[in-house]
Amino acid sequence: MVVEQFEGDLAEFIDLFHESTGLDDREAVEKLIAIEVTKGTNYGVIRDGDTVVGMIGLYLDPVPGVRDLDPAQVIDLAVHEDYRGRGFSRLLMDWAVKRARAADQTWIWLYTGSPGYTVDVYKSLGFEVCGINENYWGSDGSRVWLRRQINELPTS
Ligand SMILES: CC(C)(COP(=O)(O)OP(=O)(O)OC[C@H]1O[C@@H](n2cnc3c(N)ncnc32)[C@H](O)[C@@H]1OP(=O)(O)O)[C@@H](O)C(=O)NCCC(=O)NCCS
Repeated sequence: MVVEQFEGDLAEFIDLFHESTGLDDREAVEKLIAIEVTKGTNYGVIRDGDTVVGMIGLYLDPVPGVRDLDPAQVIDLAVHEDYRGRGFSRLLMDWAVKRARAADQTWIWLYTGSPGYTVDVYKSLGFEVCGINENYWGSDGSRVWLRRQINELPTS
């Protein structure tokens, strides 16, 4: 499987956006997609035939010289449930890391919802927890920030 940069209408795989955001509301998800398009977030996808079965977004601060103020952000990672557990999210993250390195980024960061399995997934993908807000979503749970240094060669 390969990751390719997606060019087209992100709504083609809106089901994956529902998964990554945890939102059922289609209008809300469409607005979030529109925001990422406006920002210039790039999406890498994995396809099975014509169907997109995995996606990841990478936002690079477009303002040269102040990049360190706003490191690269990974957003909207999701793999279709029938394709999970096969290393697809690792492939997608590798794609994002490669692009961020090519843009001279030192760190990538992301946030996720309540500490649950996604925090473990990101730790497996080389991230460390760098912040937790226990009540970010009130009774719906916490927000966890994670980051990964990407300008070092692997130690093994
Ligand atoms: C999170 C998600 C993208 C993982 O995708 P995946 O393709 O199944 O993940 P991979 O097979 O590439 O696994 C990557 C690593 O995470 C680990 N991992 C995967 N699922 C896990 C789980 N449920 N619990 C703990 N670790 C898990 C794997 O063991 C692997 O680590 P390893 O190589 O050290 O063994 C997928 O479960 C998903 O789409 N979930 C719904 C959307 C979502 O919550 N996205 C995140 C929003 S912040």
